[in-house]
Amino acid sequence: MFDLDLIKKTYENFGPRIEKAREVLKKPLTLSEKILYTHLFEPEKVTEFKRGVDYVDFAPDRVAMQDATAQMALLQFMNSGRDRTAVPSTVHCDHLIQASVGGRTDLKFALESNKEVFDFLESVSNKYGIGFWKPGAGIIHQVVLENYAFPGGMMIGTDSHTVNAGGLGMVAIGVGGADAVDVMAGMAWELKFPKLIGVKLTGKLNGWTAPKDIILKVAGILTVKGGTGAIIEYFGEGAKSLSATGKGTICNMGAEVGATTSTFGYDESMERYLRATERSEVADLANGIKEHLTADSEVYANPEKYFDQVIEIDLNKLEPHLNGPFTPDLATPISKVAEAAKKNGWPTKIEVGLIGSCTNSSYEDISRAASLAQQAVDKKLKTKSEFTITPGSEQVRYTIERDGFIDIFEKIGASVFANACGPCIGQWNRPGAEKGEKNTIVHSFNRNFSKRADGNPNTHAFVASPELVTALAIAGNITFNPMTDKLINEDGQEVVLDPPTGMELPEKGFAVEDAGYQAPAADGSAVSVAVSPDSGRLQLLSPFDPWDGKNLNGARLLIKAAGKCTTDHISMAGPWLRFRGHLDNISNNMLIGAVNAFNNETNKVKNQLNGSYDEVPKVQRAYKAANIPTVVVGDHNYGEGSSREHAAMEPRHLGVKAVIVKSFARIHETNLKKQGMLGLTFVNEDDYDKIQEDDKFNFVDLSEFAPGKPLHVELVHADGSKQLIELNHTYNAQQIEWYKAGSALNLIKQQNN
Ligand code: F3S
Repeated sequence: MFDLDLIKKTYENFGPRIEKAREVLKKPLTLSEKILYTHLFEPEKVTEFKRGVDYVDFAPDRVAMQDATAQMALLQFMNSGRDRTAVPSTVHCDHLIQASVGGRTDLKFALESNKEVFDFLESVSNKYGIGFWKPGAGIIHQVVLENYAFPGGMMIGTDSHTVNAGGLGMVAIGVGGADAVDVMAGMAWELKFPKLIGVKLTGKLNGWTAPKDIILKVAGILTVKGGTGAIIEYFGEGAKSLSATGKGTICNMGAEVGATTSTFGYDESMERYLRATERSEVADLANGIKEHLTADSEVYANPEKYFDQVIEIDLNKLEPHLNGPFTPDLATPISKVAEAAKKNGWPTKIEVGLIGSCTNSSYEDISRAASLAQQAVDKKLKTKSEFTITPGSEQVRYTIERDGFIDIFEKIGASVFANACGPCIGQWNRPGAEKGEKNTIVHSFNRNFSKRADGNPNTHAFVASPELVTALAIAGNITFNPMTDKLINEDGQEVVLDPPTGMELPEKGFAVEDAGYQAPAADGSAVSVAVSPDSGRLQLLSPFDPWDGKNLNGARLLIKAAGKCTTDHISMAGPWLRFRGHLDNISNNMLIGAVNAFNNETNKVKNQLNGSYDEVPKVQRAYKAANIPTVVVGDHNYGEGSSREHAAMEPRHLGVKAVIVKSFARIHETNLKKQGMLGLTFVNEDDYDKIQEDDKFNFVDLSEFAPGKPLHVELVHADGSKQLIELNHTYNAQQIEWYKAGSALNLIKQQNN
């Protein structure tokens, strides 16, 4: 399945290109720099790129797409004029499977209810040379880690947790579908050269702590914005002591601090994982260039000299953490949870504990969680909360079933959901969630934004390691500290839970009957891809209009969003996932989760044409019908969260022309640019306060749009008064060409014709 020739070719470049980069930069190199400099689109043009400043063209080795984002990416790729993808690419059907009663039944239902979409993805993969992972095969990032990730590689994926592959020493980055289209079309992929954050891990995890606690701690330090525009590189003895899958968990949740990606140097744990997943050839190749797959030794000896920021964590002293609710960076050590819960009024009774997902469903995770479930059985403890397991892949599910772990979990009343995203992405048919009751769940997933798991805004979701989730679910209360507290068993006796134990890798090796992979046709020219014009779920795309080169006048304010506005707020997931391949239908969720700064309500904005208040998409459609351009205004880190380009395509499709914010999340800003939108930031943040509900916007110097040159907007208030505000942008010359053409895809098409 994995492409050994590709890895060989990549590794052949390492020696000469790294030597060249060292010569040019005149300093030792971090691992991140080695991977970046060996993957330049034009390797002969090595120069010292300024971190956080220069846009650089890269040539990733692979592309991975999940079913929700692949639809739009492939609909776009079909318009690119190629007959096969330029680099090995895969599609993974994982997001569209709803968790309801249990794995088998849920999968069967999903196959029927999503047939049209799965058939489309299968046929388009078959035609264009793309590996297809069927529904039930597993979650994209776990499948990638098991099959495709390799030390020193560069990959992009249409999902923000693509970064998970850093566990095997990759630079793997979550992007929008439009970026995937670029790479699959053989074009350069552009990224602002990242800053570098070094995390030195000393000591060794012990007792109740798990790799998850490292990233929960890092999230508390960096917050959801702290990693923005940076690669986090982990190193030190503590890093070497972690399993490859544990490293994957840490890299996975790098997305929660906004990091471009995270990575670790190649070591023995990666070698063990490669061999255990039947990739000994890859391990042998990696061993051959070992010195290039980690930083130069001087870098880790004096990290302050080579990283923009260094964080040090002593694993000996690390405590298990519970992060949340509603944001993954609210980090509370378990010993302080009872106090914090009291202070903040968090409901302490746990309704459901959920383990698994792409973040935490390795063999190691499951075996350690199972050791606690076994203790509950042995010590006659009745598990107080509901408990669910979402395996990351069929290979993991089959192996843990073979090794008896599922039996153990079933003894504490657990349900096993399908090998898919399920509750992690709102695909959870949770009984009673619609009642909106205040309640608490704990899970080992990565995100815990409001409504994400079950659609209920009052569900307080906390993130923890699978081990801690299991212990807390047994106890039924978040105030339980397994390191110090006792539980009462069915015989009325006091018992303690001993720290979890487990195995990094299965003693008998991994096993699977049908991993769920389907190779593409060698020649796909005869394969047809059908999209019904009547479909409610798939819609062929029409190109967006090019820019007329003129200034933009009389644009109305659609919404001034207050506070957090993630891609979930802009283009909600959950039930809307079914429309991911139909731009017009999914646009009916545009910004319905954003809070209107003028009334503090969601999905209620003023229609300036008639003064009434209505839902955001309806108001926007009214402006579109009247041919009136609009503007969206936002706060800090606008568009944080996922890579979904729908959050940029929907406003573009419905006629929003510009998004003006205090600051952007990287992927979303790029997505806006790709779709031919204006993504702008206030030069003076306080100008956000000048925006009034009835404002009109005149972009007075857009016709002179140029790199590095601020733009100016004249605000015309309802009373006729005017204010001029200055806006920054980060468009380079190429991105301005996208804007002129109407979208990056329009430009690709022009170039392919
Ligand atoms: Fe799926 Fe949740 Fe991971 S949505 S890809 S399991 S972050």
